Amino acid sequence: SKKLLVDVDCGVDDAQAIMLALAAPNVEVLGITCVHGNTSVENVCKNALRVLQVCNKLEIPVFKGAAKPILGKTIDAGHFHGQDGLGDAPDPHAPGLDLIQKESAVSAIIRIVNENPGEVSLVATAPLTNLALAVRMDPSLPSKLRGVYIMGGNTESRGNTTVCGEFNFSADPEAAYIVLNDYQCPIYLACWEFTCHSKLPWSFCDTWLTQNTDKARFMARVFKHSIEASKTERLQKELVAGMGFISCDSYAMAAAVDDSFVIEKEQQPVSVELSGAYTRGMMVVDTVGFLNKTQKAFIIKKVDLEKFKQMMMAALA
Ligand code: BDR
Ligand code: CA
Repeated sequence: SKKLLVDVDCGVDDAQAIMLALAAPNVEVLGITCVHGNTSVENVCKNALRVLQVCNKLEIPVFKGAAKPILGKTIDAGHFHGQDGLGDAPDPHAPGLDLIQKESAVSAIIRIVNENPGEVSLVATAPLTNLALAVRMDPSLPSKLRGVYIMGGNTESRGNTTVCGEFNFSADPEAAYIVLNDYQCPIYLACWEFTCHSKLPWSFCDTWLTQNTDKARFMARVFKHSIEASKTERLQKELVAGMGFISCDSYAMAAAVDDSFVIEKEQQPVSVELSGAYTRGMMVVDTVGFLNKTQKAFIIKKVDLEKFKQMMMAALA
């Protein structure tokens, strides 16, 4: 079976991605590590526990990680995911934070990968602070990984957070830089524009959310806020015009759980802009090879959307 360690800033699409992994056959989620991003790291921990609760998987350990980026100001995405990161639809029976492990997320990543050398894939659907700190503490970490699957960055300099910056990279550009340069192992990137081109129809969303299960009812409640934001926000208008919704983080997760999901990928050296009034946090694709990088990431270009729908349906079944 595939062993995954999942690093999240548990907003709504992170929750969808976790549920997709938990429903996938032959996948073992060894732990969930939390980081700042869509909301505070405390909220992220609470949200991860709520997701595990509705999936009856509270035995999976949840670890708290970095509360802030390596440099610069913390940003969040409360306008989209809700202030609490899960649609501001609280649950009085949510598990308490006492279930969070004492060990920090960064130590847990290092320990778990070292306990399973060559077997673990990291799936990061959040700002990359924990992954960057982990490789600084243990430079041998990437050589012991199967791969890293990341939702983040962009390929056509189109931003969703700043003019040119995608959220996960913009929320910690230095961390993204460190990860893209220091993880000398296969890196798969589900970038923002790719997810925009791969949206699922709203009609699918209706079918998906009206399955008669606790998981579907949970998702319908927490997703409501972002569905409304998708339909009103300036930034998101194109998504509605294109008749679809995007579960960004689920694409990176689907790539990690099923090798046949990615139909087309392109291998390129990539880095991240760290300065620039408009471009800080933007991913840079070095197609000509100016950077002389040996590490080349796989940029996901095309995926099997029928397979994706099946995995998404199973996630809430
Ligand atoms: C990314 O930003 C977050 O808001 C989402 O959870 C996703 O990880 C999309 O840019
Ligand atoms: Ca996320």
